[in-house]
Amino acid sequence: MVSFTVNKRRVNLDVDPSTPLLWVLRENLGLTGTKYGFGMAQCGACTVHLNGEAVRSCVAPVSRAQICRSIKDPKQNKNRNLDQLVEHLTEDKLVMWGRNPGEGRTPIPMPHDEFAAKLKQWHAAGASCPADTGKQAKL
Ligand code: FES
Repeated sequence: MVSFTVNKRRVNLDVDPSTPLLWVLRENLGLTGTKYGFGMAQCGACTVHLNGEAVRSCVAPVSRAQICRSIKDPKQNKNRNLDQLVEHLTEDKLVMWGRNPGEGRTPIPMPHDEFAAKLKQWHAAGASCPADTGKQAKL
């Protein structure tokens, strides 16, 4: 069971917490305004506001705790340890493309310096993930 608020409406859904948020919005809630493009967090067609942040819903599990676990899982992050993960997220050219994705696409809203500082702070503090309460999401 996953519970969250979408468009000021509380919803409780019996879905796997690892299901991409995009499919929960489109298939379970009928919110088809959220589009599927390439499904690789690159084009921005699926972008939604999640707790005030722009999130690519095609790759974001419906649970924030699951998102955290997914990016830390070597089986899902190309076998990166935490140091390599931080380097990838702050320096990889493909990831950095999201800073300047081209005309008609929404760039990542947080300035890169701020993102890198917060990511490194999280890493230095032990890179813990939130508890999976299913209550963190507010769309
Ligand atoms: S479908 Fe393109 S970024 Fe998600």
